[in-house]
Amino acid sequence: MKVSDRTSGVEYVIRDIISYARKYESTGKQIIYLNIGDPVKYDFKTPDHIKAALIDAVTKDQNYYAESEGLPELRKAIVEKESQKGFPLADSDVLVTNGVSEGLDMTLASIVDPGTEVLMPGPYYPPYASYVKFYGGKPIEFKLYEDGRPDVEDVSSKINSKSRAICIISPNNPTGEVFDRKGLQQLIDIAIEHNLYVICDEIYDNIVFDEQFTSIGRVASDAPVILLNGFSKGYLMTGWRCGYICLNSDSRKLDGLRENVPKLARVRISSNLPVQIAAIQALRGPQDHIIEMVQKLRKRRDYVVKRLNSINGISCKLPRGAFYVFPKIELEHRWNDDREFVLDLLNSTGVLAVQGSGFGREFGAGHFRIVYLPPENVLEEAMDKLEIFISKSSK
Ligand SMILES: Cc1ncc(COP(=O)(O)O)c(C=O)c1O
Repeated sequence: MKVSDRTSGVEYVIRDIISYARKYESTGKQIIYLNIGDPVKYDFKTPDHIKAALIDAVTKDQNYYAESEGLPELRKAIVEKESQKGFPLADSDVLVTNGVSEGLDMTLASIVDPGTEVLMPGPYYPPYASYVKFYGGKPIEFKLYEDGRPDVEDVSSKINSKSRAICIISPNNPTGEVFDRKGLQQLIDIAIEHNLYVICDEIYDNIVFDEQFTSIGRVASDAPVILLNGFSKGYLMTGWRCGYICLNSDSRKLDGLRENVPKLARVRISSNLPVQIAAIQALRGPQDHIIEMVQKLRKRRDYVVKRLNSINGISCKLPRGAFYVFPKIELEHRWNDDREFVLDLLNSTGVLAVQGSGFGREFGAGHFRIVYLPPENVLEEAMDKLEIFISKSSK
């Protein structure tokens, strides 16, 4: 039977690689999974007060459909959080989604027409490109400098009459780079000049290590900025699927989206009600777990970066947020590309990483991504295996 042409561009390497891992596991060997950014699978657990709120909601029979745009009290709590970060926002401009993933899908569904182009940082989180392609558009990667700032000349040179939006992911997945105020302002200025939407994903906003996080809200002014955020990472609610879209309340250019995005929300009825009730507790309850998580992650980051940089043929920058590293590999004549490297690493050691080219061919190729979420003894074992693997491959 015919399958739609539109699905052919959809890929998600982070999970697509799992089929190779299953094959490896079927031989009875163990895998060290360093491919998926899910802290709850490691020793970071959903805080008790958030779990209790979910259980309480279910027990009290709050198990019906919610309002399509989201629970009013949760929308209020989201306004409190995002306004504190500087984003101009009213309750009516918040829409609760089943994860940032659904928010991204709805946003791109609302702005991408066949033939339009969407700019995104190179490298980027793969669903950005997949959804753009799914809706008939073309992803265009722009260059970032070593310090994570956008190369403004590169961005400007890639804008044409087909350009529709610029995406920002800060902190970024896969590099952990955090955009600074100047970089954000530069992208906003370009977007205003060329009449482009700005989509900014801040899902890692409370996992930043070395400095204060600057949100897009601080520079958004009345620009057409769509902010995406959610509860998966900072609130350790990955499996519960809760996120949201915020439309800049000061931007009249977003009035079309204000009409249209809620239509998509209504078609899919609503997002999960008990989880939304728990999400209110997440935002308004104790925040101590975030400090603990960031402290633990900083130690793991420092350890992994040190180990990676001590391996001949691998170089790695210190990520400033999230929980990923994106090292560069000298492929030389040992592997044809980063995918071959990742598969060879898996089959030789059982360490599962993700190939960099899956995060964008232009700037991701020649790299691989690993998460540093596991406890240090697991990371140590993985780094030892990687070190031996590379030294053997050099002979
Ligand atoms: C940048 C970015 N955005 C969105 C998501 C998905 O978020 P959610 O679990 O809210 O769908 C991820 C998950 O890894 C991510 O890294």
